[in-house]
Amino acid sequence: MSDGDGDGQRDESEGRGQEGAGDRPASEDPNAGEQYHLEVSPGDVAGSVLLPGDPGRVETITAAWDDHDVVADHREYRTATGTYDGVPVSVTSTGIGSPSAAIAVEELARVGADTLLRVGSCGAIREEASVGDLVITTGAVRQEGTSKEYVREDYPASADHAVVGALVTAAERLDYDYHLGVTASTDSFYAGQGRPGFEGFEAAGSDDLVADLREANVWNFEMEAASILTLANLYGLRAGAVCTVYANRVTGEFRTEGERRAAEVATEAVSVLAEMDAAADRAGARRWHPGLELGLGE
Ligand code: URA
Repeated sequence: MSDGDGDGQRDESEGRGQEGAGDRPASEDPNAGEQYHLEVSPGDVAGSVLLPGDPGRVETITAAWDDHDVVADHREYRTATGTYDGVPVSVTSTGIGSPSAAIAVEELARVGADTLLRVGSCGAIREEASVGDLVITTGAVRQEGTSKEYVREDYPASADHAVVGALVTAAERLDYDYHLGVTASTDSFYAGQGRPGFEGFEAAGSDDLVADLREANVWNFEMEAASILTLANLYGLRAGAVCTVYANRVTGEFRTEGERRAAEVATEAVSVLAEMDAAADRAGARRWHPGLELGLGE
C-alpha cells in the first residue's frame, strides 16, 4: 500500500506473546505467530485481502485468479493466497456478521494485511437497485454492535477513497451495473433489516426502519461492512465494500443472482489499486490521487 503514513499501525512487536515455561504462553495477547481463529501466520497473506462471508465463496473467487493455495481453514475462516494479474492477493471468509468479521480484521492486520475489501450480498432498499446490481459502499450506518465495543458511536465507518475509486474503476471496466453510496450494517438479517421474525414477530421500530433509512439515502442492508470499515479506520488500514443485490426490499424480489460480480469487481479492484500505488510511487506522491491522472501530481 502506498499510504506510507502507517500512523494508525501498531508496532508489530507490541504485546507479542512469547512462549513461557512449559507450553504455557507468557501472555494471552494473541499478537504473535499463528493466529488463534484464522490459523494464519505472518507471510501467509498478501497485503490485499478479499472478505466474503461464506467459506464456500473462497473457491468461486479464487477460480478467477492466476493461481492460489488454501493456506488455512478453521471454523468459518477459510484463507487462500495467490495472484491475480500478477498481483498478490488473499481471500479470507469471515462468517456472517460483525463479531466474526472483526476477528478476521484483527488477525489479518496482525499478520500484515493492509487493504481489506468486503465482498458479499445485500438487500437493496431502493427500487432502482435491481437484483444482480452491485452496491459499492462509501460509508456504513453502524447499526451493528461490534464496532461500538471499539469506539464512540459518532465515529464514522467510512470507506477508503482509493479503495472506493478502485472498486468503481473495476465495475466500469467490467461493465456491471452498480450504485455508489451509504450502506446500513445490521446484526440481524430479520428484525434488524425490518423483516418479520418467527410467526410474524415484529421488533420495535421495524415498521419504519426501511423507510427511514431510504429517506436518509441509504442504499442497502448487509451485515459486516460497518465493523470492517470502523476497525480499518482505527488501525490505519484501507478498506471498502462491494455487494451484489440479492433482495430488493421495495419490489419484494429475492434471487441469489450475480454472486460472481462482486467477487470479480473486488478482485479487479486489487489489480487497479496496484496500478494506483505504482502511479503514486512513480510520481513520488504519498498516495494516489486523481490529480496524478490530470497531470497535477506532486
Ligand atoms: N444479505 C443481507 O444482509 N440482507 C439481504 O437482504 C440479502 C443479503
